[in-house]
Amino acid sequence: MSEPIRVAVTGAAGQIAYSLLYSIARGEVFGPTQPVVMTLLDIAPMMGVLNGVVMELMDCALPLLSNVIPTDDPEVAFANVDAAILVGAMPRREGMERKDLLKANVKIFMVQGKALDKVAKKNVKVLVVGNPANTNALITKKFAPSIPKENFTAMTRLDQNRAQAQIAARCAVPCNSVRNVIIWGNHSSTQFPDVRHAVVSKDGKDLPVYDAVKDDAWLKGDFITTVQKRGAAVIAARKLSSAMSAAKGIVDHMKDWWAGTKEGEYVSMGVISDGNTYGVGKDLIFSFPCKVAADHSYQVVGGLDIDTFSREKLDITAKELTEERDDAYAFLEVDSNL
Ligand code: NAI
Repeated sequence: MSEPIRVAVTGAAGQIAYSLLYSIARGEVFGPTQPVVMTLLDIAPMMGVLNGVVMELMDCALPLLSNVIPTDDPEVAFANVDAAILVGAMPRREGMERKDLLKANVKIFMVQGKALDKVAKKNVKVLVVGNPANTNALITKKFAPSIPKENFTAMTRLDQNRAQAQIAARCAVPCNSVRNVIIWGNHSSTQFPDVRHAVVSKDGKDLPVYDAVKDDAWLKGDFITTVQKRGAAVIAARKLSSAMSAAKGIVDHMKDWWAGTKEGEYVSMGVISDGNTYGVGKDLIFSFPCKVAADHSYQVVGGLDIDTFSREKLDITAKELTEERDDAYAFLEVDSNL
């Protein structure tokens, strides 16, 4: 067996982590023969709950789980880690303004960025899930200048999965018969779920989604709003936010980043916008279609045609991310030229 890798999960006493940790510990993310040491970070008042989670992980008797280290210290959690999944964030409380939430959360990610910079491996793969995920990922990156900027990503895979599942249901095919759905932009209600380049495999043939669905009005209307508002719909129904599906999105994102994407397929990841060819301003963590190689390196897929309808949608979500970034930099007094 190979040497264990070290994987940190933050917000480890929370509901997404409860659905996620088992999948990591049993080899669904980093491979079925890769042992892992898991470091679990949460805040001091949650250490009792976290110890319960540690007991359960132990009781799962999983051979790949070499060790579990619970802590409330980011520098312990991130010491020498190969991957860091940043789920922990402050939830929105009643009466809290969006800006207050942003302010509280970017501070958390500033602290965690500094800790990663100081103690993590320089090739650590960082996935930010805690909201506002894209801007939190940008702040984490900003405060970890010794780690390459490409190593910071935000999760839009849950949105991609939601979009893929909507199309699959509409075409009465399994979800894996739908590929290359794109989520552009922010993990928020301004995101643009785009199926113009996506394909459905049905009855042994590959069809563009528009030809398979045959309902342009739905694809340009309710389909988009259903995906954009799916998180809110789950909260309204469950009285709790998406956790099982968020954990599945994390597994899919990290697994593809670790092992590579399938030939001919791309996946959506929030990545640094610098150098993109889609007219999105630099210094944003923006969701783009990406292809990942077996050595963990990824590239934004270039050359996809953007029509007027798509251009408008990309600009809306880029504007929101630019405003979030500028607010975050102002709160933290970050020099945007650094
Ligand atoms: P939760 O409230 O059940 O758990 C969050 C955990 O984070 C709590 O245990 C809390 O104590 C911990 N935490 C708070 N501050 C921390 C800090 N400074 N360091 C370490 N841990 C800290 O929330 P849940 O449902 O697990 O969601 C977590 C985050 O994920 C939320 O921000 C949520 O909005 C976001 N989310 C993102 C999705 C995406 O697609 N990007 C999808 C669903 C949720």
